[in-house]
Amino acid sequence: MSYDEYLKNITKRSELKKLVDKDPYRLSYHLMAPTGWLNDPNGLCQFKGVHHIYFQYTPFSATWGMKMCGHYTTKDFIHYNEELPFIFPDNRYDKDGVYSGSAFIKNDEIHYFYTGNVKYNDSEYNYISDGREQNTIQLVSKDGYHYDAKKIIFTNDDYPKDCSKHVRDPKVVEKNGNYYMVLGARTLEDKGCVLLYKSTDLATWQYHMRIDSDMDYGYMWECPDLFDMDGETFLLVCPQGMAQDGYKYQNIYQCGYFKCDLDIENKSCTCGPFIELDYGFDIYASQTYQDEKGRRILLSWMGIPDADYDNDCTVENGWQHALTLPKQLTVKEGKLYQQTLEELKELRTNTIKTQCQNETLEIAKASEIFIEGCMDEISIVIHNEISLTYHKQLFTLNLEKVGHGRNQRYIEIPKIENIRLFIDNSSLEIFINNGEFVLTSRFYGKENSSILARGYETMTIYSLKGYMINEYDYTCV
Ligand code: FRU
Repeated sequence: MSYDEYLKNITKRSELKKLVDKDPYRLSYHLMAPTGWLNDPNGLCQFKGVHHIYFQYTPFSATWGMKMCGHYTTKDFIHYNEELPFIFPDNRYDKDGVYSGSAFIKNDEIHYFYTGNVKYNDSEYNYISDGREQNTIQLVSKDGYHYDAKKIIFTNDDYPKDCSKHVRDPKVVEKNGNYYMVLGARTLEDKGCVLLYKSTDLATWQYHMRIDSDMDYGYMWECPDLFDMDGETFLLVCPQGMAQDGYKYQNIYQCGYFKCDLDIENKSCTCGPFIELDYGFDIYASQTYQDEKGRRILLSWMGIPDADYDNDCTVENGWQHALTLPKQLTVKEGKLYQQTLEELKELRTNTIKTQCQNETLEIAKASEIFIEGCMDEISIVIHNEISLTYHKQLFTLNLEKVGHGRNQRYIEIPKIENIRLFIDNSSLEIFINNGEFVLTSRFYGKENSSILARGYETMTIYSLKGYMINEYDYTCV
C-alpha cells in the first residue's frame, strides 16, 4: 500500500476513528493504534530532542493486515504528536508488509533498518522453508520524517544456508568502532538464534557470527536487541516455541533476555539462562534505545500474537492493542529492573495517602498506586474484579472475571517490598520490588473503579490525567 493508496482510504480511517473515540476501553495514558491494529514498537530513538516512536501498524483493520510503519513523536512523554505513517509497503521487496526494525543515529542522520516481507501465493507453500522473502532494507533520514530511498541490504540468499525463510527484525549497535546488526532467525532445524552482521561504514555488511544457546529456547527468536549496561551485555529476544516449565514461560511466546558473555572480535558468545522481562499476559517485542540523557528506555507491545485470549471488546470499536508505558532499565545484581520514566509523574493530579485495609476505596479509572511496607500475606482487589495475592511466597494475578480468556499468572518471589500499579481503562501494569518483577495485561471490566488492599503499611493513590495527543490533520494533505 503506497502513500497515495493510504490517502485514498483516509475517509475509511475517519469513520473508524469515530468508533474508537467513543470506546470506554480506549486507553487514556498509553499509546494505542489511532485506528486499526498496532504491534511492535520500532525505530525507537531520540533525535535533536524529539523521541520518535514508530510502530507496526494496520490503520484500516483492527485485526492482522498489511503492515506499515506508524509514527508518534514526543519531547516529554506527556504531549504526543501523531505523525503521518513513515514507511509504506510500496516496493517489490516489502510489498507484503513493512515488518519490524530499528533506528541508529550517526553523524546527524538516522539510519533505519527493517524487514521487507514478501509472501508468495502462486503455489502451495509451508512459509517456513519456502514461500516468503524477508529482505533487510535500510533508509537514511535527516529528520525522522522523510527519507530518500530504500536500499536492499540482504535478501534470503544472504542469510546462512541452514536458516529458514524466517530471518527478520534488524537492530544495530556500535561496538569498538564497528557496527553490528542483530537479526532474529529460525533455522531449518527449528532452533531460534540471532545472526550478527558486521559493518565498518553502515553501508556494507558481512556475516559475522551467530548467537544461540545449548538449551532448548524455542524454534524462532524474534525482535532481538543487543546492548551493554553496567559492564554487562544483554541480549533481548522473543523466543517462540518454549514449553511452560512450572511457573516459568506461562505466555504462549516469551519476551525476555540473556546475560551474555560476548567476545565479539573472537566471535564467541555464551548465553546465561533466559530471564523473562514480564510475566504477562500481554507483552511482546520489547525494544530499547538510549536517549540523550543516557537512559536506556524500553517500550514493548502490550499484546502478544496467537494467544488464546482476546480483545474483542476493542476490535468491535475499530482498534486493537497498545504500547506499554515507557520504562527506564537499570541493572541490579546482574538483573534488569524496569521503572516507568520519571516524566510520567507529570500525569499525577490528585494524591491520597492511606493505611486503610478494611474498606473498598473509590479510585479514578486512570490511577497509579504505590503500596509499601508489604507483608508476607497480601491481597489486593481492583475494581472488585481483579485480584492480586501474595501467599507463601507465591504472587498470583487473577484476571479470570475480566480477562477475556486471561486467567492466572504466578511468580515465585522470596520477599515483596513494594508494589506499584498503573491502571488505565483496560490495562494494568504491575511493578513489584521497584521493577524487579513486572506483569502487563489488558482487561475488560464492568465495575466501578475501586481498590481494596490488605497486608501493607502505606498506600499512595494518584489519579492520573491522560496523555495529550495532537492528531495528524489529514485535511491539509
Ligand atoms: C513480532 C513480529 C516481528 C515482525 C512483526 C510483523 O511481533 O512478528 O517478528 O517483524 O511482528 O508485524
